[in-house]
Amino acid sequence: MSDAVRIVEVGPRDGLQNEPNPVASKDKIELINQLAACGLTHIEATSFVNPRWVPQLADAGAVMDGIRRSAGVTYSVLVPNLKGMQAALQHAADEVAVFAAASEAFSQKNINCSIEESFARFAPIVDLAQENAIPVRGYVSTITDCPYAGAVAPQAVVEVVERLLDLGCYEVSLGDTLGKAKPDQIESLLELLLKRVPAQALAGHFHDTSGQALDNIELCLAAGLRTFDASIGGLGGCPYAPGAQGNVATEAVCQAMADWGFETGVDLERLTQVSVFARQIVSAQQD
Ligand code: HMG
Ligand code: MG
Repeated sequence: MSDAVRIVEVGPRDGLQNEPNPVASKDKIELINQLAACGLTHIEATSFVNPRWVPQLADAGAVMDGIRRSAGVTYSVLVPNLKGMQAALQHAADEVAVFAAASEAFSQKNINCSIEESFARFAPIVDLAQENAIPVRGYVSTITDCPYAGAVAPQAVVEVVERLLDLGCYEVSLGDTLGKAKPDQIESLLELLLKRVPAQALAGHFHDTSGQALDNIELCLAAGLRTFDASIGGLGGCPYAPGAQGNVATEAVCQAMADWGFETGVDLERLTQVSVFARQIVSAQQD
């Protein structure tokens, strides 16, 4: 099995969407440029969502227009509906991500519709993406626990993953939105999922509230997954998942991969410097 691991850097999106202090567009742009210079090949740069819901990313267009596009780097964005997809095209996103949930309650709080309705919104996104040869990635949130409804049945996750793949997503990222998933929960979820979908079609997206994200990633690696989302400096969380901490830090994941003998292609020394910059820009307003 391959020892190459792909890291999807989600800090500029998942990290910055939850910051209480405003971050200047020019700092976001600089962060994204610096991340690309570390050798990260996939950067989720922002979201084209309703700015009243996520004011932190209201400058999505300006950020996409302002970044320096490095060859070989995919700059992706989150889109909840056709309006977001149209904006993504207008601002030259290389890839888009749609985001569903395995919990009805989370779907309602996060995107103001049921799981069924969310798939009706995704269909025209995928059509337009395919017309423009834009790959579509999928997310399934709340893979073990929902902040509003408690425990989530693994079968509900499997159903959403299969629907996202059937819709045309090339990969589905498994979102531990609260960051509280225990390794035994991840192990049994993977066992169920891998009976239905190949490991290459799955990615791990672990927030790190309980400090078990790296343990969960190690389990995913053993099960054959080779794509992991991470956020520089461990920034962020979801505004609609109260109490959740940021994604596992990119620098921690890349260090762990090196320790475990996996290749990420990322310059760790440079990444550590960028994590300092990332923390500076989110705390700049507090000084
Ligand atoms: P809604 O209010 O139901 O939408 O929101 P609507 O269709 O009724 O439209 C209402 C207004 O929003 C209209 O404007 C639309 O034009 C506007 P008005 O006429 O009132 O002036 N609007 C938009 N504006 C800009 N861009 C758009 C857009 N769509 C509508 N794309 C909606 C529905 C989905 C838009 C809203 O609920 C929303 O934006 N939600 C986003 C929530 C979000 O971003 N959450 C965080 C990301 S998910 C996450 O973090 C989890 C993840 O990391 C994985 C994990 O950890 O589990 C991915
Ligand atoms: Mg997330």
